Amino acid sequence: MGVEIRVEGLKKSFGRQVIWEDVTFTIPAGEISALLGPSGTGKSVFLKNLVGLLRPDRGHVYVGGGDVPRLRENELYDMRRKFGVLFQDGALFGSMNIYDNIAFPLREHTRKSESEIRRIVLEKMEMVGLSGAEDKLPGEISGGMKKRAGLARALVLDPEIILADEPDSGLDPVRTAYLNQLFVDLNTEMGATFLIVTHDIGTARVLPDNLGLLFRRGLVMFGPREMILSSTHPAVNQFFNARRQGPIGMAEEKDQAEVASEGQIPQAMPAPIPPQLMPSDGRLRPSMRRPGEWLRQHQTKPPPGSFVDDQGRNWLTDWDSLTHAGHRPQ
Ligand SMILES: Nc1ncnc2c1ncn2[C@@H]1O[C@H](COP(=O)(O)OP(=O)(O)O)[C@@H](O)[C@H]1O
Ligand SMILES: [Mg+2]
Repeated sequence: MGVEIRVEGLKKSFGRQVIWEDVTFTIPAGEISALLGPSGTGKSVFLKNLVGLLRPDRGHVYVGGGDVPRLRENELYDMRRKFGVLFQDGALFGSMNIYDNIAFPLREHTRKSESEIRRIVLEKMEMVGLSGAEDKLPGEISGGMKKRAGLARALVLDPEIILADEPDSGLDPVRTAYLNQLFVDLNTEMGATFLIVTHDIGTARVLPDNLGLLFRRGLVMFGPREMILSSTHPAVNQFFNARRQGPIGMAEEKDQAEVASEGQIPQAMPAPIPPQLMPSDGRLRPSMRRPGEWLRQHQTKPPPGSFVDDQGRNWLTDWDSLTHAGHRPQ
């Protein structure tokens, strides 16, 4: 389960406004990847291009043998079954209760009986912690519950790819932690490919296997978490460490004078890389690499204090003694 998405030379503009161009990268199968970038850099537009809701000016989106922008309407309909999409606001039908909202893709895309639909809907509702909310209308539940309902709906067709647009925006830190844990557990259980758009640096630093940054009408960098979090690339370092100093300004790009006035300040080092979030059942993540492996292979020193967990244990030096037979540190 889980397929890769290969994006090649993708460009999207609206009228004369180029949103991004030359976007080329591969979203690895079965891994969790996160895409970040300042507001308005076209993250939502990018997700819509992946599922064919928007068409790029040029370029390719290869998913399981098909090239999304070149699919005919009926082929696109089939292709979309591979995707579960959680839109930014949950995108629930306001006049439909939560149960019917979650059942909708099953009624639309399958010929399953109502009793089978019931079994699946209740299973997914339990998975996201919504049991008992079947009869509620979207207007009657909290923002966090709406997001989880949108996620349950994205899961009912057992998608090979899950796209989530800012699933954690507007959630408090504890609910964000629960949601991130849910993503790790779902990824471990289903093996699906995840692409999550987020603004939350805390999420970005611990949840994904891979990170990407959209800025200045392009993909600045995409790669393994350790590569991005140790990077001294000015925009990458600035964004993933939430700093004011760097090329990203209040109005997206700083002007020359602003950048020049910062020239005297030495660039801050990347913050310590935290240990990655693990499945709650004690297993390792399906695509788990040994902590520090990418850094070692690329002769890059981890920022001081990296890979120390909240019990003070060092996952870099003590990994072998902390893990046993595929289990995470206990
Ligand atoms: N359907 C559309 N028609 C015209 N412009 C659009 C459309 N959708 C998005 N845009 C523009 O594309 C840019 C990127 O938008 P968006 O993808 O929503 O940014 P992000 O999700 O990164 O905050 C914005 O300037 C937005 O106004
Ligand atoms: Mg958006």
